[in-house]
Amino acid sequence: MQKSIFLTVLAGAALLAACSRPVPVAQDGTDLWLAAGRPYADVLASVETTIDPALPAEGYHIYDADGQRHVAAGSEAGLRYGVYALQRAEVLGAAGPGIDIQEQPYYDLRLLNHWDNLDDTVERGYAGESMWEWTSPTVPEARIRHYGELCASVGINGAVLNNVNSNPLILDAEHIARVAKIADILREYGIKTYISIKWTSPIALSGLKSGDPLNPKVRQWWKDKAAEIYRAIPDFGGFLVKANSEGQAGPQDYGRTHADGANMLGEALAPYGGIVMWRAFVYSPTSPDRANQAVEEFLPLDGKFADNVIVQIKNGPVDFQPREPFSPLFGKLKDTKMMMEFQVTQEYLGFSNHLAYLGTMWEECLTSDTYRDGPGTPVSKTISAIAGVANTGQDPNFCGYVFAQANWYAYGRLAWNPELNAETIADEWIRQTFLKPAGMTDKAFESKFIEPVRGILMASREAVVNYEMPVGLHHLFGGTHYGPAPWDRLGRPDWTPAYYHQADSAGIGFDRTRSGSDNVDQYNEPLASEYNELATCPENLLLWFHHVPWDYKLASGRTAWDEICLHYDAGIKQVEAFRQTWAGLKPYVAPALWEEAAKKLEIQQHDGEWWRDANVGYFQRINGLPLPADVRPLDTPIDSLIYRQVRSDRLGMPIHDENNRPIIDRPRFRRPQ
Ligand code: GCU
Repeated sequence: MQKSIFLTVLAGAALLAACSRPVPVAQDGTDLWLAAGRPYADVLASVETTIDPALPAEGYHIYDADGQRHVAAGSEAGLRYGVYALQRAEVLGAAGPGIDIQEQPYYDLRLLNHWDNLDDTVERGYAGESMWEWTSPTVPEARIRHYGELCASVGINGAVLNNVNSNPLILDAEHIARVAKIADILREYGIKTYISIKWTSPIALSGLKSGDPLNPKVRQWWKDKAAEIYRAIPDFGGFLVKANSEGQAGPQDYGRTHADGANMLGEALAPYGGIVMWRAFVYSPTSPDRANQAVEEFLPLDGKFADNVIVQIKNGPVDFQPREPFSPLFGKLKDTKMMMEFQVTQEYLGFSNHLAYLGTMWEECLTSDTYRDGPGTPVSKTISAIAGVANTGQDPNFCGYVFAQANWYAYGRLAWNPELNAETIADEWIRQTFLKPAGMTDKAFESKFIEPVRGILMASREAVVNYEMPVGLHHLFGGTHYGPAPWDRLGRPDWTPAYYHQADSAGIGFDRTRSGSDNVDQYNEPLASEYNELATCPENLLLWFHHVPWDYKLASGRTAWDEICLHYDAGIKQVEAFRQTWAGLKPYVAPALWEEAAKKLEIQQHDGEWWRDANVGYFQRINGLPLPADVRPLDTPIDSLIYRQVRSDRLGMPIHDENNRPIIDRPRFRRPQ
């Protein structure tokens, strides 16, 4: 009798446990961060809306009055932002009675730059072919609408549709008509359409003999082209321009300046209210330090740009590295409008394979003090607009996989308010993206899922820095920009890793001090002196600014060599820990999403090991030093890695084997050491 009671109790307890076990809700990542909220139409239907011209054009006010919830805004666009803000607040549990949220965007221009080509490939795009489907007879309306919703939900209000390495055909009648169709859809979501132009378009399309910006025929050509575009797209935003950069032609080919070129285009667009975003990503092969070149070319032009020209500057002086100091231009230009260019696509941070939440990187940049107008002049206050190179493609989830979506979200939120912090944004994204399993309390979801995922996101960028390029190392990439190639020293020097690490038997690092390239003096004091002095240079930028002996002692008391090895090792340990955490989260995530992320994390760990083995192994060849005692031995000897690179598919995505290890190909030719 007693035994049967005991068995019944046991069975009951087991049943209870089974019932209370959380059941993941099916989701496939195609709703991105709009997954957890009520549909937009429902939220809209539940509020009283008013356009109030007294409010800022894109601003909104959400409040309760007379037993009713209201959203008032300065415009239709503002209303849309307000309704999405309410949807977000509902998910975040911040939409209770008495709600009162009043916001307006920090910058007027909040753009995505799509590096999409007219043949549907995407430069540095890792989520399939171009989402605009240039080669298809029809425009993919449903996808563009979905994109419009996602952009509007975070306040993005502009899209440059095509690659900065532009094809002149974007300006022919057929493509203008197609751009107009896309613009018609995007307009409904408050998004303006822009295009990238190629400097030589008048030559390529109309047979002009010159591209000289002071040549009247060239000037007229651009005026006529602007008129043609505005006939098709009355609210067209303007041009993004990459000129005299990486082999692209530009005004300098005719002895003119960036300002001459930009102002000529500005004049053509001005009658219609269009703008020119002129990129500062320029560097001549002759200057000794690539990091110096943007300031060298643009500082003399400060104050010479037309009112509708804005100079678009990458966050760092070289090229979207996992860590760079902010571009010194932000602290130098005083009479020129400046626009930030972040890279949402992870060109140098593992493509859409590695989990690298970039909110922390962008926060680091935006909050850096430039001292331009005295202490307390962060980068965020020197710029008046912001752009992000998109990570979108035709993949149903837009970005390659779920964690890459966090970067699009974070970019949008920071573009709206650069004073938000990365952790808050990560937290918002998780709650809106992942559906709470059935049978799980809010409290349990919070501690068992949200907190650990937030922890992974917040540590992820530093993990990449650690296993790719720690202690200020940079640009150690092979041509694909995916894997390591510290040995590479062939070709244009400032495109090779050896130029950046400068490793020799005595030491390592790029000397940008006053006795080196003097890049430090492009920064305002006290930064210039801080970076110049070994004792005060932040250690995470040490080898960016200094060439140090291998046995140089860091704050930890360890040598530079030991610290480099330890950081590589730490990066891999971090990814191992992410994998372990993610394994424990399986009960809470839809199987499809969980599996995909688990696979990516495994790839990331193997890639990280490849990065460590290639770099530490290569530097060891140069300095002959042993690994520090507390660092794990390398897995693969350098002899089987040197001069090799990962195999890639047609779209540039690296290929991994069935064990999620990168397939490293033998070199097609032997390179000299
Ligand atoms: C990097 C990138 C190129 C891109 C360029 C740019 O060099 O690798 O693909 O065209 O930046 O920003 O213009």
